[in-house]
Amino acid sequence: MANVFVTRKIPESGLKLLQKKHTVRVYSKDQVIPRRELIKGVKWADALLCLLTDKIDKKVLAANPYLKVISNYAVGYDNIDIDAAAEAGIPVTNTPGVLTQSVAEHTAALAVALAKRVAEADSFTRKGSYKGWEPMLLLGTELRGKTFGVVGLGRIGSAVADIMHKGFGMDIVYFDIKKDKTFEKRVKATFEAVPQLLKKSDIVSIHVPLLDSTHHLIGARQFRSMKKSALLVNTSRGPVIDEKALVAALKNKTIRGAALDVFEFEPKLTKGLAKLPNVILTPHTASATEEAREAMSLIAAENILAVLSGKKPKYLVKK
Ligand code: DGY
Repeated sequence: MANVFVTRKIPESGLKLLQKKHTVRVYSKDQVIPRRELIKGVKWADALLCLLTDKIDKKVLAANPYLKVISNYAVGYDNIDIDAAAEAGIPVTNTPGVLTQSVAEHTAALAVALAKRVAEADSFTRKGSYKGWEPMLLLGTELRGKTFGVVGLGRIGSAVADIMHKGFGMDIVYFDIKKDKTFEKRVKATFEAVPQLLKKSDIVSIHVPLLDSTHHLIGARQFRSMKKSALLVNTSRGPVIDEKALVAALKNKTIRGAALDVFEFEPKLTKGLAKLPNVILTPHTASATEEAREAMSLIAAENILAVLSGKKPKYLVKK
């Protein structure tokens, strides 16, 4: 029997699975665990199940050289110092695949809502501003035949492209570090380098992990190269976009609108962002469906069980 420390309550399925074999302790408060408590928990644990809101750095790792596994309850793992974990010989796991559909649907919902100005229309109506039908009121844009640009063709980027092409008749352009001929054939997609993709796209959707090379991938220069009518959606990681430059671009109408599920200084919003009418903001809930979160819980637990029984976990993070 090993000790498994869970930094916040997650859906039951994974916890139950772990409890069958091991002693499980879940941080008692429903809030981001304070660092002191995190370090205390790590000291006690053989296995750590943590969240994307927990910073697992050298100091946390140093608290327990005997830690056997770090299981991140997320597909992204930029909250973990992967190099330091590798140096300490601690495997890190994540939960890919099971949240793809949820995040892809949320991304599509944001893209459509932006094009149709759903959030603006909702707030206009709630405010009591609707005085009767008007020919020029809140004109949006149609999607069929327009270009949807996917930056980063992992599982999620590719699922979003499927929805936007098959469901809305959009033309797909994409960028990734390598071409994917099967994908190109499936959705009639064209590969473009990022500068060309930004120039051509009516909607740009970001699906890259946060790395040194993707930090501020989209900033003032990129906004200037985009269409004035362009819409930007980000459901990946906040710091991929220079948020200050985004606020300026939206204010100056360099681009038409943006929808963000993730933020550069999460959970803080860059000054001015929330005041803009042409943005839609959701609180990192793209994967927040019961199906996805239960499945993430199970996989996070299975990853731990595998390592603790000397097996290779299914979703080992590789640098
Ligand atoms: C992840 O798993 O990385 C997502 O951002 C969670 O919503």
